[in-house]
Amino acid sequence: MRVLEIDHPLVAHKLTVLRNSATHSSVFRQLADELVTLLAYEATRNVAVAPVQIDTPVTTMTGTRLTKPAPLVVPILRAGLGMLDGLTRLLPTAEVGFLGMVRNDETLEVTTYANRLPDDLSGRQCFVLDPMLATGHTLIASVEYLHERGARDITCVTLLCAPEGLKALEEQIDAAIDLTVVTAAVDEKLNEKGYIVPGLGDAGDRLFGVVD
Ligand code: URA
Repeated sequence: MRVLEIDHPLVAHKLTVLRNSATHSSVFRQLADELVTLLAYEATRNVAVAPVQIDTPVTTMTGTRLTKPAPLVVPILRAGLGMLDGLTRLLPTAEVGFLGMVRNDETLEVTTYANRLPDDLSGRQCFVLDPMLATGHTLIASVEYLHERGARDITCVTLLCAPEGLKALEEQIDAAIDLTVVTAAVDEKLNEKGYIVPGLGDAGDRLFGVVD
């Protein structure tokens, strides 16, 4: 498993505004979107391409194009939806699948309540979007779900990671999966409620408001 913690002043600036509890939802959404686009630049570094012959107005040359099948972007509902536009801005030809997963705040266990994904993911590069890699339970379940359908090349894009979650992912995910985690920062730890410290709070609530 590779972990890419993006070291860039714009990433650090935008993340600081997201962390600030005084930042309003509207600004949070906008900055999360911009931050994901910056992360997407790194996350797509190994996207599959092939040579293509083209005519410029001056001559003929060999260029580069994205190959088929198109990559699959999978936002984990609900908070991952706030990252979808940021990623597809750079990969507009990607297809989008959905996974609905919810964490029980007491047991921290994850259950899948919705899925809209192709049955066969063999040969598909998958980009999983979930802002917070905390215990790792949600991303482990998501990666296993995609792997069961044939995906072997999976990149998880997150805003923040806890070291505990990265360790769990490393230990529990099948080593046959080519797994990359791209993040704006690896934080200090998880607290007793499973929140990332210093973190940014509940990403879903910060993006979309509290829904009970
Ligand atoms: N999920 C969140 O939204 N925030 C955390 O800090 C941990 C999990």
